[in-house]
Amino acid sequence: MQRLAGKTALITGGTTGIGRATAEAFLSEGARVAITGQNAERVAEAAAALGPNAIGIRADASSADDMAEVARQLKAAFGGLDIVFANAGIAKPRPFADIDEAHIDEQFAVNVKGVLYTVQKLLPILRKPASVILTASTVAELGAANMSVYAATKAAVRSLARSLSAELAPQGVRVNVISPGPIETPIFGKMGLPDAAIKEWAGQIATKVPLGRFGTVQEVAKAALFLASDDSSYMLGEQLLVDGGMATV
Ligand SMILES: NC(=O)c1ccc[n+]([C@@H]2O[C@H](COP(=O)([O-])OP(=O)(O)OC[C@H]3O[C@@H](n4cnc5c(N)ncnc54)[C@H](OP(=O)(O)O)[C@@H]3O)[C@@H](O)[C@H]2O)c1
Repeated sequence: MQRLAGKTALITGGTTGIGRATAEAFLSEGARVAITGQNAERVAEAAAALGPNAIGIRADASSADDMAEVARQLKAAFGGLDIVFANAGIAKPRPFADIDEAHIDEQFAVNVKGVLYTVQKLLPILRKPASVILTASTVAELGAANMSVYAATKAAVRSLARSLSAELAPQGVRVNVISPGPIETPIFGKMGLPDAAIKEWAGQIATKVPLGRFGTVQEVAKAALFLASDDSSYMLGEQLLVDGGMATV
């Protein structure tokens, strides 16, 4: 029996990385899946590669209007939604002394406002019981040099799972969080750092992981699948750390 047979899911930031792997996992368990991303071409390419049970919608998660349009399109395409994975996010390391308003606003817009708008705009088309999953990060639980703003956005996301669960559980909506540790995805190449610096930094990070390595996108997707499915029906407001023991051991 496929674990998501008959279910429909939205994954924001599904063109690459964790979102893309989770789309593949949901599809292989029988769901119909919509993915979003900021760029129409990248979204169309990813949706085509995911196959006939996937659709792609260009939408900036930080735009309330874009997310309202996603809800309209998914109501028409799927009739309603059972699963929302608010996963779109960006990470821009910078020394604390150098942070400025643009740096703060950019990350809070996508990582925090994006999650709020995704859940708020999709809420009216959720079928109950629904599962909402947010992507935070293990850095919400740790001190991480040069990551103060990013870590603060992810601490906000972790908090949102608690408050949204308190408010939405009576409506049949569970909200949980996945907090990945270092996972090999394109996110590191988008940080505006030279390749050599990223390589050196990645090596340093790996030494802080008790399992001694970066995780894979599939390892995170399996946790998302668990939270999306009825296997986690008695869990809400909870955080699953998928971080090789980084924040705990
Ligand atoms: N990789 C890690 O080590 C790690 C660790 C902890 C947490 N995370 C979190 O995991 C999530 C996924 O990251 P990833 O590592 O899989 O990175 P990724 O491969 O860069 O994926 C990020 C996805 O988000 C999309 N995106 C970015 N800004 C967006 C926006 N404004 N609106 C809509 N989509 C947007 C990207 O597509 P476009 O750029 O094409 O729009 C892409 O599909 C993020 O929330 C990240 O913070 C990652």
